[in-house]
Amino acid sequence: MTPTPQSTVRRPTSDLDVYSDEALLNPWPGYRELRDAGPVVFLERYGMYAATRYDAVSHVLRSPEVFPSSEGVMMNDEMNQVLRGNTLCSDGEAHSASRRVIVRPLTPKAVRLLQDDIRAQARKLVEELTGRREFDAVTDLAQYLPVTIVSNLVGLPEEGRERMLVWASEMFNCFGPPNDRTRDSFVVLGEMMEYATTQAVPGKLRPGSWAEAIHGAAARGEVPADKCPVMMIDYMGPSLDTTIFAISSAVWLFARHPDQWDLVREDPSLIPSAINEVLRMEAPIQDFSRSVAVDHEIDGVVLPAGSRVIAFYGAANRDERRYPDPDRFDVRRNPTDHLAFGAGPHTCVGMNLARLEMRALFEVLVERVTRFEIRSEQRALHNILRGFARLDVTVHV
Ligand code: HEM
Repeated sequence: MTPTPQSTVRRPTSDLDVYSDEALLNPWPGYRELRDAGPVVFLERYGMYAATRYDAVSHVLRSPEVFPSSEGVMMNDEMNQVLRGNTLCSDGEAHSASRRVIVRPLTPKAVRLLQDDIRAQARKLVEELTGRREFDAVTDLAQYLPVTIVSNLVGLPEEGRERMLVWASEMFNCFGPPNDRTRDSFVVLGEMMEYATTQAVPGKLRPGSWAEAIHGAAARGEVPADKCPVMMIDYMGPSLDTTIFAISSAVWLFARHPDQWDLVREDPSLIPSAINEVLRMEAPIQDFSRSVAVDHEIDGVVLPAGSRVIAFYGAANRDERRYPDPDRFDVRRNPTDHLAFGAGPHTCVGMNLARLEMRALFEVLVERVTRFEIRSEQRALHNILRGFARLDVTVHV
């Protein structure tokens, strides 16, 4: 970014606790405060910078030479050590090599092959749930496709498939700053890493599965063999909860905005646009971080080498500098530039699959449901992820 004369350089600071229960349940006022305070703001409680404006978050994600991922993208040192060298936490050639392997079953072409099966399963599920009228949009609706289809594609042995949901959620909690929520989740993380090392191994994995393909790539010398366990985490971590939270947030938004549901029902070609708007409004992953490799200025604020900056995707997506009236849910907005899938070299490799799962469900829901009515809701209280633990709904057909 353009250098600023030394005299105008400043360092906005804030004592806001962005990881308190209150802030996690309702982050929007805090995000606005931080956006107004500066392009990047030093969080006194955590000793890290927060990037919350759209342009600043996008710049951080797209400048890996200044903001590398290989020092980790989590907000605590232990976790950055544990995941060292997986796809998410690497740069340059090492990143490209493992990303080439991880992305193979997730390219648009590969995902198209899953389309018929996912659509058929989505139809069967929605028909059953709309027949019942009352269900939990988290466990009955949102979890179904990721748990039945995606966990099978990953291909872990039985016990691992059952534990994937718990592991993934606890693992994302471990991404947080050193707080009780992070520390409490480390126990489960140990179990997940042990499993990735001892059970997710050739001979125990489903033949033809994504996990087995990682070992195949290592055998051909495409990636180092000792990287296989951490590369398993690339699938075990983000393939379920993210999509589950996105689906339940979509139901919640449509329940609260029946006029927007009517628009999508009248014109189902709006579904892809509506999905982008859901992801913009309620980014399932709210934030990851980057280390700062060299002194670097963003709009008059200098980030010193050796510091860490948290990129708040969720805050960037609500930046009034980018999106007019950002808190309004508008299914016609089609914000294809939202940052819920990240940006730059680490842009989500699973987004084609996540979009397909969401589209498949909502294509059938628009045919059958005239209204979603929320009976009770319970948000998941989570360091990084945003979504629901329970969302009991009645559907009108
Ligand atoms: C709505 C669902 C999803 C959301 C919101 C989401 C979000 C994200 C974000 C924000 C990143 C960027 C991380 C960064 O900036 O450092 C990312 C990366 C990644 N995602 Fe997703 N994700 C979703 C679904 C999935 C699925 C279904 C999979 C796997 C099947 C997946 C696998 C990955 C992997 C492996 C990376 C690392 C890519 C890299 O470092 O090059 N994600 N995701």
